[in-house]
Amino acid sequence: MEKSTHTASFFVVIIVILSLLVPSKGNARSHIDNLTCSQQLVKNGSEFVSNFVRSMARIGSIVRTYRNGTAHTGTGPDSTYALAQCYGDLTSEDCILCYAEARTVLPTCFPDNGARIYLDGCFMRVDNYSFYHEYTSPNDSVVCGNTTSMSGLFGASVRQAVGKAVMDASRNWDYFARESLVKVNESVFVMAQCWRSLSPADCRVCLENASAVISKCLPWSEGRALNTGCFTRYSDTDFLNPVPVRSSSSNRGKIIAIVVSVVSCVAVLIVVLMIIVSIRKHRYIQKKRKGSYDAKKLTKMLNDSSLYFKYSSAEKATANWDESNKIGQGGFGTVYKGVLSDGREIAVKRLFFNNKFRAADFYNEVNMISSVEHKNLVRLLGCSCSGPESILVYEYLPNMSLDRFIFDETKGKTLNWAKRFEIIIGTTEGLVYLHENTMNRIIHRDIKAANILLDIRLRAKIADFGLARSFQGDQSHISTAIAGTLGYMAPEYLAHGQLTEKADVYSFGVLLLEMVTGMENNRSKSTEYTDSLVSIAWKHFQESTVEEIFDPNLLMHLYPNTNYQKEAKKVVQVGLLCTQEAPSLRPCMSTILRMLAKDEPLPVPSKPPFINEKTMEFNNITEKLRYYNYGDDSSSIATVSNSHFFPR
Ligand SMILES: *[C@@H]1O[C@H](CO)[C@@H](O)[C@H](O)[C@H]1NC(C)=O
Ligand SMILES: *[C@@H]1O[C@H](CO)[C@@H](O)[C@H](O)[C@H]1NC(C)=O
Ligand SMILES: *[C@@H]1O[C@H](CO)[C@@H](O)[C@H](O)[C@H]1NC(C)=O
Ligand SMILES: *[C@@H]1O[C@H](CO)[C@@H](O)[C@H](O)[C@H]1NC(C)=O
Ligand SMILES: *[C@@H]1O[C@H](CO)[C@@H](O)[C@H](O)[C@H]1NC(C)=O
Ligand SMILES: *[C@@H]1O[C@H](CO)[C@@H](O)[C@H](O)[C@H]1NC(C)=O
Ligand SMILES: *[C@@H]1O[C@H](CO)[C@@H](O)[C@H](O)[C@H]1NC(C)=O
Ligand SMILES: *[C@@H]1O[C@H](CO)[C@@H](O)[C@H](O)[C@H]1NC(C)=O
Repeated sequence: MEKSTHTASFFVVIIVILSLLVPSKGNARSHIDNLTCSQQLVKNGSEFVSNFVRSMARIGSIVRTYRNGTAHTGTGPDSTYALAQCYGDLTSEDCILCYAEARTVLPTCFPDNGARIYLDGCFMRVDNYSFYHEYTSPNDSVVCGNTTSMSGLFGASVRQAVGKAVMDASRNWDYFARESLVKVNESVFVMAQCWRSLSPADCRVCLENASAVISKCLPWSEGRALNTGCFTRYSDTDFLNPVPVRSSSSNRGKIIAIVVSVVSCVAVLIVVLMIIVSIRKHRYIQKKRKGSYDAKKLTKMLNDSSLYFKYSSAEKATANWDESNKIGQGGFGTVYKGVLSDGREIAVKRLFFNNKFRAADFYNEVNMISSVEHKNLVRLLGCSCSGPESILVYEYLPNMSLDRFIFDETKGKTLNWAKRFEIIIGTTEGLVYLHENTMNRIIHRDIKAANILLDIRLRAKIADFGLARSFQGDQSHISTAIAGTLGYMAPEYLAHGQLTEKADVYSFGVLLLEMVTGMENNRSKSTEYTDSLVSIAWKHFQESTVEEIFDPNLLMHLYPNTNYQKEAKKVVQVGLLCTQEAPSLRPCMSTILRMLAKDEPLPVPSKPPFINEKTMEFNNITEKLRYYNYGDDSSSIATVSNSHFFPR
């Protein structure tokens, strides 16, 4: 017991250190300006996919160290040439984030064999020939922001600033230039970037063309030129990241300043850690007592974060937590709909407990989550832990969660197979992003239908990710979560608290089976439920009678032997692959995405856990699993001490 307490503190300390060491002040600017597919079809899908994945992996590892790179895999019509370029003012962390967004979106062009994507922070292109030296084309476009019309003075400033940036960029070693003119009412911010694969002369031609094209956006306050070989933007608001401090600088004073600030950062870090450790120690010693020692200092320090949201604003937005505004009861708290004074709609999660004790953990967590942006993830807007309860503020999604559709006899009909498959793909992409996002790998821990929200166009958005980690210390909370989602939890997680991405894969597999069958894998719902959904699906899969368990709402009998049936059967098989007993056998999320999206032969799943079990009692599983071997995943395990699961 004592030992595990120390282990837990140790991991918290490690997490805090890691999150403090990674500065996340900048902005990855991962907004997508334009995605254009090549409109040429691939010749041989499997060959293309294998080339594409390999090129992306290489680009991915390049981007982790450098801000530009090219990679080329294969020969012939399905070879892939890839190029990635981050813009000069992004930090390397933001560069990785921007790349991750681009990488996630690019495959949507398949079965086209090429794509280019312009984000506000980076560019990527894939094609089947060497295009590294191309710089203009008739297809180059310009994107104007047309909300505010500016005066002629602004136009003159833009022309002047763009002209200067264009001149500078082709001369600078990194082909990047920035320009800011700060004046009353007429401020102008400009950036210009060429791809590093061009020659200085070509870079210059590209930028001069861009500068001529971008002036068409005047008098609007925003303009972006998306050329084959360069990107240029002007704006009346400051979108530029702070000038990074380059360590290659020969300026001694600068170096000394850096050393001093690093040393003082480390000192602050040590002090913070000591506070946290002593708070935690204290807390464990006085476990039963409701703590009254304050972490006010920490809270105050962290209140300066940009995510800080006033408790009173949330109170006002929800009309004092009015019952009529209640829209759900999640794993960690109650969710209310709110309307801010400017009319924006928000969803506010009022947590079951106050997180003052772990203010530092909480804010680190929230900061990390908020830096993660993806079309299939619900956006976190802010948080507060200084009021009577801790709250989290999210974007509001009027269509609520997936469980309200698939488990409902009438509403289930609104989600036909095509729609469900789209939701499955969206959820998969969101999870790929969470798991394989190189900066902060995030394990969700609570994937289930109720945590998949749907937007107005019924696209999937994963909610509640990344949160559980900051709640580890709270025993009562963890046991509530276990009871609530028993059917979704991987056996090794249930029994040993061994948490890897593969635990999410297991839950995701259960979700897949639910989406095909419309059955809920929650035993408490119905008493005569003798078998789990996983076992039922396994039985039918072995007897090749999977059609029998399709959700009647899908009206699959109307489409015998069609692609729909084939797809639904594939989803069942993938679901069973995900729920295999040994975590090492379960595919990772990017493999799952490929399995779902492409037509390729799938492996045969092995027996899922709990088969032949009459009861799914918690302790039985524990006993049974004590002897199992869990493959080679131990290196990536974020251990949660057993004592949190089995308080005795
Ligand atoms: C596609 O490529 C794969 C692997 O390169 C090869 O085994 C397969 O025969 C090809 N298919 C066609 C239709 O050419
Ligand atoms: C980035 O571009 C420069 C200039 O073309 C090149 O020398 C360098 O190798 C590139 N970096 C990588 C990692 O490819
Ligand atoms: C690129 O792909 C297209 C369409 O598949 C093909 O016609 C063309 O020959 C390919 N180009 C190269 C250089 O292989
Ligand atoms: C920019 O380049 C494109 C493609 O070469 C060309 O069509 C366009 O006329 C050029 N625009 C200007 C203003 O030079
Ligand atoms: C992206 O740019 C192309 C021109 O290259 C244009 O045809 C297309 O409409 C743009 N797409 C969007 C979503 O703006
Ligand atoms: C421009 O786009 C069209 C279709 O989007 C494509 O067929 C054509 O090859 C493109 N031209 C160039 C020079 O990339
Ligand atoms: C801005 O562009 C949108 C979409 O192109 C258009 O509907 C809207 O009318 C434009 N607004 C102005 C002020 O031009
Ligand atoms: C700036 O804009 C505001 C509102 O548009 C105007 O009242 C003010 O006079 C302007 N200031 C200058 C120096 O032009």
